[in-house]
Amino acid sequence: MQDTVETASSAVIVAIDGPSGTGKSSTSKAVAAKLGLSYLDTGAQYRAITWWMLSNGIDTEDPQAIALAAAKPVIVSGTDPSAPTITVDGLDASGPIRTQEVTSKVSAVSAVPEVRALITDLQRTIAAAAEGGIVVEGRDIGTTVLPDADLKVFLTASAEARAARRSGELKGKEATDLATTKAALIKRDAADSGRKTSPLAKADDAVEVDTTDLTLDQVIECVVTLVEEKRAAK
Ligand code: DC
Repeated sequence: MQDTVETASSAVIVAIDGPSGTGKSSTSKAVAAKLGLSYLDTGAQYRAITWWMLSNGIDTEDPQAIALAAAKPVIVSGTDPSAPTITVDGLDASGPIRTQEVTSKVSAVSAVPEVRALITDLQRTIAAAAEGGIVVEGRDIGTTVLPDADLKVFLTASAEARAARRSGELKGKEATDLATTKAALIKRDAADSGRKTSPLAKADDAVEVDTTDLTLDQVIECVVTLVEEKRAAK
């Protein structure tokens, strides 16, 4: 597997990692839109493969069964930050990948090394094809997928703040109380941080931004400034 991505010299590659509820998606999309960059939500890709496993009767507790089936679904990500898309075998997966069923199974599926190898390859191909540059958000982008990214940002926030944000997003859909949301979020982060293959981790050269007491606009402004500094120095 190739682990460096060749892009045009002016293209800027930004890796944004961190646990759930830190504002990663909103920040990454807004930064990409403001700076004219492409955008890739890698969590959506892991959710998409999880949805395919569930839809095709694969036991998500059986890593061997997951590994055997991993290459079957065709996952395609649209990288326009104002309208990101995701399809699986040509079907729009943007709704089904956000259900609680998928959310509760995605850590187990994404821990399988064969799944990670395939999705990582796909992510590198997409990043290399993004001519003007790209913002890629996830858990292992700075450490594993794009270790040569021009800028690495690691977003954090207190568990309380993250649970409150997640609850807000779920309102009206599959709302649960704050304590349940917080417990589910802590459980998923522990699984994502504790897995053997490319766990959720901050790269040594990543800039850590604690978003607990920041508004979304403040986080966006902070990351835009960091990208502009890197671009100016290229
Ligand atoms: O960002 P998200 O909540 O949509 O991500 C869903 C899951 O996908 C997350 O719990 C772990 C997994 N994931 C991963 O393992 N590596 C990534 N780069 C992105 C997400």
